Amino acid sequence: MRTVIVSGGSSGIGRATVEHFARAGDRVVSLDIAGPQDGFGGFGDRVSWIRCDVADWQAVDEALERVHRDHPLDVVIANAGISLRHGVLDITEKDARRVVDVNLLGTLGLWRGAARLMAAAGRDGGVLLATASVNGRRGYPNYADYNATKAGVIALTQTFALELSPRIRVACVSPGAVLTPMQLAEYTDAMLADVNARIPAGRHADPAEIAAAFHYLASPEAGFLTGQELVIDGGETAGATTAEWGA
Ligand SMILES: NC(=O)c1ccc[n+]([C@@H]2O[C@H](COP(=O)([O-])OP(=O)(O)OC[C@H]3O[C@@H](n4cnc5c(N)ncnc54)[C@H](O)[C@@H]3O)[C@@H](O)[C@H]2O)c1
Repeated sequence: MRTVIVSGGSSGIGRATVEHFARAGDRVVSLDIAGPQDGFGGFGDRVSWIRCDVADWQAVDEALERVHRDHPLDVVIANAGISLRHGVLDITEKDARRVVDVNLLGTLGLWRGAARLMAAAGRDGGVLLATASVNGRRGYPNYADYNATKAGVIALTQTFALELSPRIRVACVSPGAVLTPMQLAEYTDAMLADVNARIPAGRHADPAEIAAAFHYLASPEAGFLTGQELVIDGGETAGATTAEWGA
């Protein structure tokens, strides 16, 4: 049984990831500022959560050490993230710093803490993963700070992999649009249909599809994969859709 940490495991992609690894037989601990709605039923004490703000590196280190003491870490997934909608002229310093603290420095702090414990334990085969985004690959209006943090996560993936190979592998997933509860609550039916029409696959991803990718990246089958980004976006960044070309 592996020990897996997922930040932001109470909702959306993180929650689907917690459940995917737990169903596969792993022990999973979520680090989140909020608990899961309705709990993590059905998995007994194999799934738990620790209240932790990933922007607080000391709290992150304490949470990691608490888990690692009894169950050495195998897989650590930096998934917690926030986005705040604002144009570049309206963005406030407070909002931008929070987005960077959670998304970018939250990933750096979690990976740093986990890598230190993995290295000190002297075991091979640790895996560090993160949720980046297609927003880190090109511009999307109204999310400048968010987009920059996701580009940063892709950059962290490369440098961590170089420094930690061959003992620890590092990779990130860049999802396109994923239908998480939070997004579903924000969309009207018309908005959902409009976004779907701009994705070649004609739909959003299910969080379970991102969770399955994490499970593959953490598996021995992905043993030669490090320093890379896996894009799962239904074709969104492949080019213009046939609808946009008028075909
Ligand atoms: N939903 C999408 O379309 C999409 C697309 C690409 C990337 N992503 C990324 O996927 C990740 C998960 O997003 P989601 O859509 O599942 O969102 P979500 O809001 O459903 O879940 C995010 C979780 O992170 C937790 N969280 C927020 N701030 C935190 C903090 N400071 N410390 C610890 N936990 C914190 C929240 O409590 C929540 O449980 C994020 O990094 C997001 O940027 C989402």
